[in-house]
Amino acid sequence: MSAASAGDAPRGSRYGQAVFRPGQAGEGERIDFGALAYDDITMARLRALGAGPGWHCLDVGAGTGTVSRRLLDEAGVASVLAVDRDVRFLAERPAPGLDVLEADITAPGAVPGRFRLVHARFVLMHLPERDDLIAALADLVAPGGVLVLSDAVDLTSDRTPETPYTAVIRAMWQGLRATIGTDVSWVPSYPQLLRGAGLVSVAAEIHVPPLLPGSPISRFWVDTWERSRAAMLATGLVDGAAVDAAVRYLDSDACAALSAGMLTAWGGRPADAPTP
Ligand SMILES: C[S@@+](CC[C@H](N)C(=O)[O-])C[C@H]1O[C@@H](n2cnc3c(N)ncnc32)[C@H](O)[C@@H]1O
Repeated sequence: MSAASAGDAPRGSRYGQAVFRPGQAGEGERIDFGALAYDDITMARLRALGAGPGWHCLDVGAGTGTVSRRLLDEAGVASVLAVDRDVRFLAERPAPGLDVLEADITAPGAVPGRFRLVHARFVLMHLPERDDLIAALADLVAPGGVLVLSDAVDLTSDRTPETPYTAVIRAMWQGLRATIGTDVSWVPSYPQLLRGAGLVSVAAEIHVPPLLPGSPISRFWVDTWERSRAAMLATGLVDGAAVDAAVRYLDSDACAALSAGMLTAWGGRPADAPTP
């Protein structure tokens, strides 16, 4: 199949338009499968960084708001401003201390204020403005606060054993890059980028959830492939049969593949730093 003959995936689109439309049935559940796979890891890191009583927090691209609500319920932070370009899932589940703002984070001055915690998970990788956004998000960190960024890392390489999963995940990254500008290749640069944005005590970690049949991460990939199928087919790297085979593979005992992981990087603004 050539890319030209299969090319019915729109190009030059944005997250939430050609793919991952919030109004498409099941999109909230897809985000929640990702949250189930990663929320405990995220919360452990945010709490280790000090998130707790008295903290005013910003959750950028908050999705269904699972992290925002756990910051309030479990960590006991004072407030969370949850920002998203589409807030329908946040509005469905209000909580005391949760403020919701519908805004495009790429717009200048989209978010007012300064925060002890600025958190963005699985958002920047989808936004072509990512370089400028890291600087803009760093500017929203109050003295003594921390910026925490999490995004996907692709663990396939030219030495990775070929499985039904690897063929399809490669097509997914390439297809999403061509349609909405998703790019995970620069995610390992986060520590340097945070340092370059003037933050200190920079560090990072990676978590790779096990691809077990029926697990949240397996279900997340199946839902994600369903929504990005046109973009994947348009790459010419896979056809519909290959996507179907990968879906069956994830749900079988034959599955022996390494999921894409989540890299979390953080950096702080010194308590005595002048407010930017
Ligand atoms: C993959 S979801 C991640 C949701 C949540 N952060 C999580 O990890 O569970 C990406 C979210 O970012 C939001 N988003 C994408 N582009 C955005 C933009 N330009 N401004 C604000 N939010 C955006 C989407 O609407 C979606 O809710």
